[in-house]
Amino acid sequence: MDRVLVTGGTGKLGTQVVAALKERGATTRAMTRNRFPLRGRVSGDLATGRGIAEAVRGVDTIVHCATHPRYRKVDVDGTRWLLKAARGYGVKHIVYISIVGIDDNPFPYYQAKRRAERLIEESGIPCTVLRATQFHELVVAMADAVTKLPIAPVPKDVRAQPVDVEAVAQRLAELAAGEPIGRARDVGGPQVLSLAEAVHAYGSVVDRRFKQLPVPVPGKTGAAFRAGANLLGTDGEVVGESFSHHLVWKLET
Ligand SMILES: NC(=O)c1ccc[n+]([C@@H]2O[C@H](COP(=O)([O-])OP(=O)(O)OC[C@H]3O[C@@H](n4cnc5c(N)ncnc54)[C@H](OP(=O)(O)O)[C@@H]3O)[C@@H](O)[C@H]2O)c1
Repeated sequence: MDRVLVTGGTGKLGTQVVAALKERGATTRAMTRNRFPLRGRVSGDLATGRGIAEAVRGVDTIVHCATHPRYRKVDVDGTRWLLKAARGYGVKHIVYISIVGIDDNPFPYYQAKRRAERLIEESGIPCTVLRATQFHELVVAMADAVTKLPIAPVPKDVRAQPVDVEAVAQRLAELAAGEPIGRARDVGGPQVLSLAEAVHAYGSVVDRRFKQLPVPVPGKTGAAFRAGANLLGTDGEVVGESFSHHLVWKLET
């Protein structure tokens, strides 16, 4: 692992991955759509294929973290662009970050992630796929959005096991430095809590007054979340600090 391309290397996870790889002595290149990238970054657009071949040329490992709300274009079609270039330039290892519990959840974003996983696994390029639970930041963003209203709508009977993004980044860097292993052990945070509890905890820390309105999540997606498909299974590994710790140390300080 000498030269590593990090797609999504400007995002929440990707910036931490770049830092973790550098700590391990790798030379990194972070992909961004920005046409005039800063030093250490490279311009490329997974939605159109622009700049992808140039970004991949000369790297031996790719850590693929890019994502976008237009996930069919970026996460699925973009993964195809990336794999084509990676095959062309003989990339030795591609490491992909995915999400815990996406197999049996028809949530469209999760199905796009599953599709991307399959493309990578079937590409013939040696690969490692790590699934993580939701990042603390995602749960905080959800809590922040709903508690701006006096009546906060919160998905009913849904739990989360949020994870520290730095711990996920460290694991990805470790995996990128090792041999390709296919599916790695899933990772998640140490605390399982209901979204109602998470929203309540966030509201207390930022001192916001609101009432919660539990909203049932319909269909098979709702059933999957209620069944805890998004939580670590018994063979998963707990990493990083808890959500409570994140609230106190990242938000209060
Ligand atoms: N958030 C979670 O709770 C969670 C949990 C488990 C797994 N994950 C996975 O972790 C990964 C990173 O998530 P994140 O929350 O860190 O994402 P993020 O902060 O939203 O960052 C998205 C990144 O994707 C890049 N990107 C977007 N569109 C692109 C395009 N067309 N071409 C090239 N790059 C593009 C962005 O780069 P520019 O804007 O600089 O172009 C940015 O670096 C995703 O694969 C996600 O599925 C997330």
